[in-house]
Amino acid sequence: MRIILLGPPGVGKGTQAANIVERYGIPHISTGDILRANIKEGTELGKTAKEYMDKGLLVPDEIVVSIVQDRLTKDDCKEGFLLDGFPRTVEQAEALDKALDEMGIKLDKVVNIQADKEVLIERIVGRRICRSCGATYHIKNNPPKVEGICDKCGGELYQREDDTVETVATRIQVYLEQTQPLIDFYRQKGLILDVDGTQPIEEVFNTIVKAIE
Ligand code: AP5
Ligand code: MG
Repeated sequence: MRIILLGPPGVGKGTQAANIVERYGIPHISTGDILRANIKEGTELGKTAKEYMDKGLLVPDEIVVSIVQDRLTKDDCKEGFLLDGFPRTVEQAEALDKALDEMGIKLDKVVNIQADKEVLIERIVGRRICRSCGATYHIKNNPPKVEGICDKCGGELYQREDDTVETVATRIQVYLEQTQPLIDFYRQKGLILDVDGTQPIEEVFNTIVKAIE
């Protein structure tokens, strides 16, 4: 199973990704998570990426393309993978096509999750993430059993640095200008599965599973 999760910031890509990779036993490749891990480790790549991410802008194509190209050659990707937050520009999508062609493999589905701007803002501002295991919560929609503590591992929950109202507005604008054109790009290839992201988490998941099995 080779899947891309496409959609605006906060629509639920990471939340669905966690459920999908568990069900199908494929690796979850989130460029946002990889970049944040680099920031945490203080790598040169992380320092460069942080300048863009803090402003809500996209990290340059050559950086993310090389991260993904490298990741896709790892053994655990042989039986499939789930890309979350990549590609995000037409240039990235073309580079991915080329890399997959060279590997002799094809995508199965591009899951296009959608919701209105108001929903996205409410979800992003209320999001909390576990510092240890990365599990995602929402203070209203998907709260942990104990405030501030991860249900799964007992880790501390925190708010992402780019989850401010100001940065969210830029991220949504960037999505509309640079990423939304990918819906047509993949629709022309017959790969798009449109999913209403305003449904509850479980229903979004069931819709995706029904369509890909
Ligand atoms: P990235 O980490 O990919 O962030 P994003 O695209 O802005 O998306 P989010 O992670 O914010 O949202 P999500 O869709 O995963 O939602 P989630 O499941 O968490 O990228 C961050 C930055 O990295 C970018 O701005 C850019 O700078 C850089 N970057 C990354 N990839 C790049 C690339 N390819 N090229 C260039 N730069 C790149 O859910 C959100 C909240 O809603 C949670 O609280 C959750 O509990 C809740 N929720 C989820 N689903 C539901 C539901 N159905 N009902 C109710 N609540 C829900
Ligand atoms: Mg995410």
